[in-house]
Amino acid sequence: MDKFVIQGGRRLSGKVKIGGAKNAALILMAASILGRSKSVIRRVPHLSDVVMQGKILQELGMKLSFGQGGRLEVEPEDSAPSVAPYKLVRKLRGSVCVLGPLLGSRRHVRVSMPGGCIIGTRPIDLHVKGLRALNADVRVEHGYVVADAPDLRGGEVYMGGPFGSTVLGTANVMMAASVAKGRTVIHCAACEPEIQDLAKFLNKMGARIRGAGSPTITINGVKELHGAEHEVIPDRIEAITFMLAGAITKGDVTVTHCRPEHVSAAIDKLQEMGAAVTKGRNWVRVACNRRLKAADMTTLPYPGLPTDAQAQQMALLSVSNGTSVVTEKVFPDRFMHIAELNRMGADIRKEGPTAVVVGVPRLSGAPVMASDLRASAGLVLAALAAKGKSVIRRVYHIDRGYERIEEKFKVLNGRISRVPDETGSDDEE
Ligand code: UD1
Repeated sequence: MDKFVIQGGRRLSGKVKIGGAKNAALILMAASILGRSKSVIRRVPHLSDVVMQGKILQELGMKLSFGQGGRLEVEPEDSAPSVAPYKLVRKLRGSVCVLGPLLGSRRHVRVSMPGGCIIGTRPIDLHVKGLRALNADVRVEHGYVVADAPDLRGGEVYMGGPFGSTVLGTANVMMAASVAKGRTVIHCAACEPEIQDLAKFLNKMGARIRGAGSPTITINGVKELHGAEHEVIPDRIEAITFMLAGAITKGDVTVTHCRPEHVSAAIDKLQEMGAAVTKGRNWVRVACNRRLKAADMTTLPYPGLPTDAQAQQMALLSVSNGTSVVTEKVFPDRFMHIAELNRMGADIRKEGPTAVVVGVPRLSGAPVMASDLRASAGLVLAALAAKGKSVIRRVYHIDRGYERIEEKFKVLNGRISRVPDETGSDDEE
């Protein structure tokens, strides 16, 4: 197990290249199950979640080969297996999106219930509802979602839940519906860029999908799909994380190889707080030479502020001038980072799905513990801005979703090193 040792207080500046989107890559990998021939996915980030999704695909009879520069070839080898076991699924919530393609291509599937995780209970009722609308028999047995669909047929389904639509649920229905008989209409579909990317990939594979990126998606089922080649979209959460790093260190950071239109809510919030933001076709520059103003923020489904950037935003608000109210509308329990930020001198209190952040002039370095992927990214930002040394333990959480984050911060003048955490002890250093 590794830890990060960060010497904070340095102004970050320079350019950083954004990688392929983890969440898009995981879905595209699952979609490749539907192809009767080889698919090539480019710009796949080298992350532990991607490796884990690869293991699940192998278990499901797919042959994988990772090449240079994020090139991944996926080919069907054995179309018999249709069970995604608990030992693998429990490690990766994103693996639930093998449900739709397996049902589509093999008409029978058993996928372990993903279970809860640190950011909340994460039910799958909407996934089940969506697949039932395609004439599938779906039930939960012995901790597994079991689905059979000898006669998979298009249907009409409303995918909205108490917290908006569902990204992976929408993806599952799109994938199964691509090879169902007749037409499917998804109302209240997730509009996230990862869903648009999936539709592009599926259409290249021979699917007939319209409307992805809007709340109504129409899918005309086809008999079968073939493999295709596709490049993963840039990771919008990684881009926002580095943009916020520029702001929190009063620096000047340009994120390149990204899609500015995918991060417009974050750009708007930074501008509201007083940062200078400029952008081009595939880059965004955030410059800031003073303490930013506080600002209220609410996480929402796309195109709102993403929940996956809430912890990083909160790190910035914790050193802003004034009081901010942060409301989490996607995962209302996602506030594990508050206690750790407070250990670094922040003044944040949680009240239900809301956090009140009273900005302090400066954080101070401290030993802290990473609890989940994005919370950990928030702690890294806080540590980079704090006075003195911080030690962040359990950075394997960060490796799930950020490729060589410490190398990228070093290029920007951050003093951060990865060292083995041999003791595993929580003693102060
Ligand atoms: C995906 C992302 C995750 C991101 C989230 C929201 C991946 C691998 N993960 O997760 O990083 O934080 O979108 O943008 O792509 N819900 C239900 N019933 C369901 C499904 C979801 O009530 O059947 C609720 C969830 O508890 C949550 C909300 O809907 O409150 C949104 O969740 P959802 O969009 O499904 O998240 P994921 O797709 O699992």
